[in-house]
Amino acid sequence: MTNQTRTRRLGAAAVALMAAGAAGINAAQASPQDGTARYGHGAAGSGDPYFPYAGNGGYDVLHYDLDLRYAPPSDPAVLAGKLAGEATITLRATQDLNSLNFDLRGLNVTAVDVDGKDVNRGSGPSEWTQVQDDANRIWELTVGLRTKLKAGQEATITVDYGGATGRPEDTTGALYGWVTTADGAMVVNEPDGAPTWFPVNDDPEDKATYSFHITVPEGKTAVANGLSEGEPKTNAGWTTWTWEAADPMASYLATASVGDYTLTYAKGPHGLPIINAVDDGVAGADLAKTTAALALQPRMITFLSDLFGRYPFEAFGAIVDDDSVDYALETQTRPVYSGAADEATVVHELGHQWFGNDVSPADLKDIWLNEGWATYIEWLWAEHTGQATVAQQFTDTVAELDSKNLWGMNIADPGRDNLFAAEVYNRGAAALHALRAKVGTRRSLPEPGIGWNATATPRQQPQTLNR
Ligand code: ARG
Ligand code: ZN
Repeated sequence: MTNQTRTRRLGAAAVALMAAGAAGINAAQASPQDGTARYGHGAAGSGDPYFPYAGNGGYDVLHYDLDLRYAPPSDPAVLAGKLAGEATITLRATQDLNSLNFDLRGLNVTAVDVDGKDVNRGSGPSEWTQVQDDANRIWELTVGLRTKLKAGQEATITVDYGGATGRPEDTTGALYGWVTTADGAMVVNEPDGAPTWFPVNDDPEDKATYSFHITVPEGKTAVANGLSEGEPKTNAGWTTWTWEAADPMASYLATASVGDYTLTYAKGPHGLPIINAVDDGVAGADLAKTTAALALQPRMITFLSDLFGRYPFEAFGAIVDDDSVDYALETQTRPVYSGAADEATVVHELGHQWFGNDVSPADLKDIWLNEGWATYIEWLWAEHTGQATVAQQFTDTVAELDSKNLWGMNIADPGRDNLFAAEVYNRGAAALHALRAKVGTRRSLPEPGIGWNATATPRQQPQTLNR
């Protein structure tokens, strides 16, 4: 749901990759210039310099309806599951189009239809074709349109697809996307993992609403974003869980995690529904820590609402999985935690609902605006609950950054593989405290007044931020 056409923002890296003749995509399909033709091809990337082929140009997704059937690994020693999906994608063209792309990685398309009419497989202008190029990180489904779409027109495209699920890795080697686990799947997409489980315009600026129908073996629980819609329905050994996410959401914030979860329900301020899913495999000290942290959610929501305005979405909660992914993600309305949820992480992921999810940076290089705020919010909560003052946490953080000499990175453009570096989090939080408290550090901070979409060059000179 964005009003912009982003073909013109295609970054230099994308242009270079395309010029290099990235295998399998012909120039006409990939060209960022196509938008100028009377009827063009929606570009195969949406302009993020770090992930040139993530997202697509020429259209704006309004709604994803994802019908998934998932069989977790039959042999827990071999972490491979089976996923079959039908995605029904409602979109609006932002330019005249004779074809468009979705991102889809590692899964095979079996059928496509546009507004109820079958599209054939092939490389002709009104056919569909798939490119899977791991080396160049190009995973594209191109759909030719027999009836051209004019700018402003809507279309509904249905894609049937499926295949084996594994344990995808991001550019840093961390697990992400549809991560197959022994008892299900932990699904965390940041930054470009959504295409590992559905065809998508994987551009954080193209927010959309989602419906999820997730069918899993009877006894398993599937949890997605938003609110559950009716009771799960069981038929012939399979149970279908339906979730509706009515708040527009970036694709990296979607989840459809599957496990041996126990669901619990609570209420936050103003009756906000809180739905928690904790894996039965979480036990002992991890379970004690998790239960205590999740019990604080209503208080945390009240605290942050008082600071930043009303909680922005229709629901909240948590998914706590017993897996080895090893990090949490702020999946919209329902963060996912790995192994256990602790208090600092829960308030961090809650903070992201305001900073990152509701208000979002246009480009991934501005990630410090998510992570700096979420880390700063950990400091604010610790002060609020009498654990440590913000001033002390700032001082300690700066001392640690000093001792490890972590001031060299430009956190306003840290590089693709440093998106989740400690500097981005800690220097981001330190920058926000410095701006708020008008204290100087002797070290580089982003410019005061930096916008969500700005870059800043760190200063080499000592400075104060008083204005
Ligand atoms: N945004 C997440 C958090 O701060 C971290 C995501 C890390 N993702 C990754 N692919 N390494 O809670
Ligand atoms: Zn974070």
